[in-house]
Amino acid sequence: MNETVEIKIGEESFKLPVIVGSYQEKGIDISKLRGMSGYVTLDTGFKNTGSTRSTITFIDGEKGILEHRGYRIEQLAENSSFLEIVYLLFHEKLPNTAELAEFEQAIKDHTGLPAQIRDVLNALPDDLHPMGMLSVMLNSLPGFMPESLDSWTDEAIRWKTIYTLLANMPVMAAYIYRRQKGLEYIDPDTSLGYVENFLNMTFGSADAKLVESLDTLLILHADHEQNCSASTARFVGSSHVNLFAAIGAANNALWGPLHGGANQKVLEMLEAIRQDGGDADKYIQKAKDKSDPFRLMGFGHRVYKNYDPRARVIKKYVDQVLDSLNLEDPVVDIAKGLEQAALNDEYFAQRKLFPNVDFYSGIIYRALGIPVNMFTVMFALGRLPGWIAQWKEMRENGEPIGRPRQIYTGETTRDYVELGQR
Ligand code: CMC
Repeated sequence: MNETVEIKIGEESFKLPVIVGSYQEKGIDISKLRGMSGYVTLDTGFKNTGSTRSTITFIDGEKGILEHRGYRIEQLAENSSFLEIVYLLFHEKLPNTAELAEFEQAIKDHTGLPAQIRDVLNALPDDLHPMGMLSVMLNSLPGFMPESLDSWTDEAIRWKTIYTLLANMPVMAAYIYRRQKGLEYIDPDTSLGYVENFLNMTFGSADAKLVESLDTLLILHADHEQNCSASTARFVGSSHVNLFAAIGAANNALWGPLHGGANQKVLEMLEAIRQDGGDADKYIQKAKDKSDPFRLMGFGHRVYKNYDPRARVIKKYVDQVLDSLNLEDPVVDIAKGLEQAALNDEYFAQRKLFPNVDFYSGIIYRALGIPVNMFTVMFALGRLPGWIAQWKEMRENGEPIGRPRQIYTGETTRDYVELGQR
């Protein structure tokens, strides 16, 4: 028998179906509640609301577990390559050798942007944040591929749009880096691997150690179920706008400091602490002080009430990457000290606040030579396949346009008063 729950409103009772997930997590389907009772549910910030059924990514926030299509993130990070994960997100299974080769070739075949995209980038204000630059370019792409305005109906156009995005996100990211530095653009070289090509377009060379480290970071960012930017991709895409526009919107959502923009803020915070003498406790006190807007960036998560498994992998990598590059970074000790102080603090323990993916990632990006204001672009590079997979699933499911209800708390009907009489 399918489980139902009964809610009682006044004298009336309403039966609502319970939807059960693969791991027995349960959700009450309230989609018909308003029709039956006149009531809507209210959940600002979606703290308790599932927006969809999804088969892509599973998180158990209490236990600190993250899986894509049933594979644990630790195993994927250890054994896989970024493009294998992209394939997994799109096609629900890991590719075999031939499938992976075909997939990589399709991406290569779509690599390269019209020269005009450089003019678009060059025309932007110098002080525009790299995430803003990326969004402008993403939103310009339909201009070079007008058939993408309907990115769904025709399967060939759908895949052309998807491959164009995947192939050229690294190109756009590299262009942004070169533009910021006032350097000549470097054309993509499709004889190189995906990450290798990105590093080559960025720095003019691609050290094997950097390739491996960055590949792992991209895997760790590939998808994270219904986060703010993925939900944006689904929500904006639900109006049937083209995929480039939905991804541009997701990119803007990621830019915010409470989401992907946190990785830049973490490094700025660690630098500020260093310059202020390195006293972690002082900043822990600030983060706890409700009259102080300061928050410990890279800490806390809506879903994880345990250590973020991605942060655990990245933390392990920090020392490895710095050692292999023969680098020392004074903020590493500050970050570790801050983490320890927070984990031992009652305020953070009570609220189950742990380091998230953004806490240590910036230290690695910086070691790779990525400027701090490009960190969120790196996050976007990794998250792109997740956004596409979420959009694709939303369209495959035939989900309706996203359009929440509200509880109106403003003025009730009143008569218009002529301008001169107010
Ligand atoms: N520093 C200090 N206090 C915090 C922090 C923090 N980083 N995060 C949460 N809290 C407190 C918060 O003040 C609240 O306290 P109280 O119950 O006394 O009012 C409690 O913990 C619950 O926090 P919340 O803001 O209600 O939780 P949320 O689920 O709405 O927000 C969050 C989640 C990630 C936005 C938040 O933890 C935060 O602002 N963290 C810092 C920014 C950050 O690192 N963002 C990256 C998120 S993970 C990767 C990504 O999405 O990009």
